[in-house]
Amino acid sequence: MTMCLSDAWAKSGEILVAPSMLSADPLHIGADACVAVEAGADCLHIDVMDGHFVPNLGYTPAQVAALKAAVDIPLEVHLMVAHPERFIPAFAEAGADMIVFHREATPHAHRLLDDIRGRGLLSGVAVAPTTSLEEVPYLLDVLDLVLIMGVDPGFSGGSFVPSTPEKVARATDLVRGSRARVGVDGGVSATTAAGLRDAGASFLVSGSHFFGAADKAQAIAELKALE
Ligand code: DX5
Ligand code: ZN
Repeated sequence: MTMCLSDAWAKSGEILVAPSMLSADPLHIGADACVAVEAGADCLHIDVMDGHFVPNLGYTPAQVAALKAAVDIPLEVHLMVAHPERFIPAFAEAGADMIVFHREATPHAHRLLDDIRGRGLLSGVAVAPTTSLEEVPYLLDVLDLVLIMGVDPGFSGGSFVPSTPEKVARATDLVRGSRARVGVDGGVSATTAAGLRDAGASFLVSGSHFFGAADKAQAIAELKALE
């Protein structure tokens, strides 16, 4: 049975790590997902890209459904698409446990978060490096994750934006007292993780660092600060 993401979410104080499947070997996506599970991943992060919102193409609902059948950990779907409302139903049906869309992609963030929650899923809003956090306080009643992008969205292996830890600290202040976690996607590595955790991040997405690590269990333990 699939582990429940809501239960993991509720354990405050625990750092959750999600390997990003954008860095998986495209010829061996299923095998790489299993490697992530074996290494101790809390969930899989799956990037969806439409070639409009970001200049890249990514995972489909059919691939998410196939991953759902292949692994017993939750799936977090990161929609880097224009008009995210068009894609939420298909990815919910495919088996997503959490859906995150970009603040910049819609003027109706509260409505979409409410829709995602209404489907029994965890809800998240991602913010690109130049997007402010001004609206976060108005989303807290329907929000499980503020996902701060540590790189310009669209690719694995991008350069870490230096202002990210400070932005994480601001987001952490804004969500205090709510059930929302602050996460980081992009540029998370053994080098950057400590600063991000210290700033309040408790959900770390890792693509190139995780899949490039020789010892993947150790990579996760390091990101969680277990060793
Ligand atoms: C980038 C994606 C990330 C990406 C992270 O826009 O949303 O999930 O895979 O890759 P790294 O960890 O290599 O920066
Ligand atoms: Zn992502």
